[in-house]
Amino acid sequence: MKSHYCGEITSANLKEKVVICGWIHRRRDHGGVIFLDVRDIKGICQAVVNPDNKESFQLAESIRNEFVVQIEGSVRNRLKGTINKNMHTGEIEIEVSKINILSKANTPVFPIDEYQEVNEDVRLKNRVLDLRRPEMNERIIKRSKITSLIRNYLDKNEFHEIETPILTKATPEGARDYILPSRVQPGSFYALPQSPQLFKQLLMIGGLDKYYQIARCFRDEDLRADRQPEFTQIDIEASFLDQEEIMKLSEKMIKDIIKEFCGENLEKFKVIDWHDAMKDYGCDKPDLRIPLKLIEISNLVMNEEFKVFSDPAKKEGSRVVALKVPNGNSMSRGQIDDYTKFVSKLGAKGLAYIKINDVKDLESGIQSPILKFLNKETIANIIKTLEVKTNDLIFFGAGTESVVNLSMSSLIKKLGHDLDLYVSKWAPCWVVNFPMFELNAEGSLTPLHHPFTLPKASKKEILENPKDALAYAYDVVLNGYEIGGGSLRIYDKNMQEAIFEILNISRKEAETKFGFLLKALSSGCPPHGGIAFGLDRIVMLVTDTTNIRDVIAFPKTQSATCLLTDAPSKVDKDQLDELKIISTHKEE
Ligand code: AMO
Ligand code: AMP
Repeated sequence: MKSHYCGEITSANLKEKVVICGWIHRRRDHGGVIFLDVRDIKGICQAVVNPDNKESFQLAESIRNEFVVQIEGSVRNRLKGTINKNMHTGEIEIEVSKINILSKANTPVFPIDEYQEVNEDVRLKNRVLDLRRPEMNERIIKRSKITSLIRNYLDKNEFHEIETPILTKATPEGARDYILPSRVQPGSFYALPQSPQLFKQLLMIGGLDKYYQIARCFRDEDLRADRQPEFTQIDIEASFLDQEEIMKLSEKMIKDIIKEFCGENLEKFKVIDWHDAMKDYGCDKPDLRIPLKLIEISNLVMNEEFKVFSDPAKKEGSRVVALKVPNGNSMSRGQIDDYTKFVSKLGAKGLAYIKINDVKDLESGIQSPILKFLNKETIANIIKTLEVKTNDLIFFGAGTESVVNLSMSSLIKKLGHDLDLYVSKWAPCWVVNFPMFELNAEGSLTPLHHPFTLPKASKKEILENPKDALAYAYDVVLNGYEIGGGSLRIYDKNMQEAIFEILNISRKEAETKFGFLLKALSSGCPPHGGIAFGLDRIVMLVTDTTNIRDVIAFPKTQSATCLLTDAPSKVDKDQLDELKIISTHKEE
């Protein structure tokens, strides 16, 4: 249908007869001559229709933005003064000989020919139009190119791309399952995979050595700006590779992506111990572009009368931290109030601060609502410990570890963004030595990763003291986002059974849920391990957006709805009857 892409025609094609196909980006009527900007995936080309060409001219008069056309003509130089150096095709135009309107279009809900802020719901409802906007178009294409680089990289390293089932049994990754009723076995359900975790382990036991999959995963969890209910993992598993080897191979893949798509050579990734990350940044996904750290001051304040500090300073499972913001004392009262509201939404009971106007004068050179509650000596100690300078500001967080860590780590990221504290464009790191388990809200142990992670402890040690066991687990963090996580896996049936026991999964339940794994583990299992990267998050970072929906062609909203198709939706009663399902949901 076409001889060239619109965006590829240049003076090299002068005098050639060409046929282009695309959308009318814009139509301009210049008293007697009609200009049509025609757009396709590669760009825009200007076509000119003269009134002498009656048939085409009549058609051109009826054409509106977003009509789809086929245009024949010959390439000529633009007149001097109309050359557009900013356009790849800006030196030429097509003198139209024939126009064929392939399809008409209603007036678009929002313009494609100029940038306009559009409400995201409107964009999602009109996704086909939204996808035509250059920034979206480019992101989706970049995603495809990133995927292809990854495939090439893994193919070159002798990984095999293998598909695993979508209709399957629950694979625990910490979220709720999406379940699907079986028609032929009424009362039974498939679960959509939260990840291909167990199947990739089975593939290793099956002797396939190195596996990867660009795998769709499904998790029914609370959604955020970097989370979707269905998302894509670059899922990797290998036999006979140790933790260092898996980390090295994965690190090179991320470096190759950033080199190819952002033109930057990343340095060797820092490796941070999980406990240090929690202590210094309050989270296991620190944004190392921001040079702010939490400093533990529990020791300095535990004997103060000020109970807000001294109580948590003395209590196990609580902490008091200080956060120095260099040159932060220009912050207004209003800004500090906003940060206080921000942390209080995350559970903090307050956000004490001290402004340092003159570090040499601890009498009148410092300003703070908590001065009256603290000993002069303690303040001097804090200032000394934090190496505070004139014009700095110190924030304080006190309370349970979980609240202080969540609120203060979020505050670091917010300050980094608001005050533009970034000292580098990219800051990747590995977080290693995770604990095997954490306590959940009900006070029982749950796996920090998943229950198939290999502990750094013997079976006896872990049964005796599960809380302190560390794991052969590793996460990759880039600019504060967890872009990947993996571990070595348990390859001994007895150890796997011990972990189930610690998690209060009875033998019977383990047999029902994971019998197939336990059986495979006793059929000759190679030591193996792997990792999974969040493709959506990688594309987000590479294309410089903080909204995961911008890198997914048809994403879902925060309430897991597809605004384009209106999924999820009601089904006919007949369909439910066939599945032997009765809904107990009452319409409001
Ligand atoms: P994990 O649960 O850490 O590990 O997931 C791996 C990576 O997937 C991405 N990710 C998500 N991206 C978008 N939306 C979501 N809801 C979402 N959830 C996770 C993150 C994360 O780092 N089976 C293990 C991997 C392994 O051990 O090999 C797993 O799924 O970037
Ligand atoms: P209050 O005694 O609650 O009025 O608090 C005195 C000061 O301490 C205020 O500036 C509060 O913002 C701050 N504050 C209160 N609770 C905390 C907390 N848990 N962590 C940090 N600062 C706090």
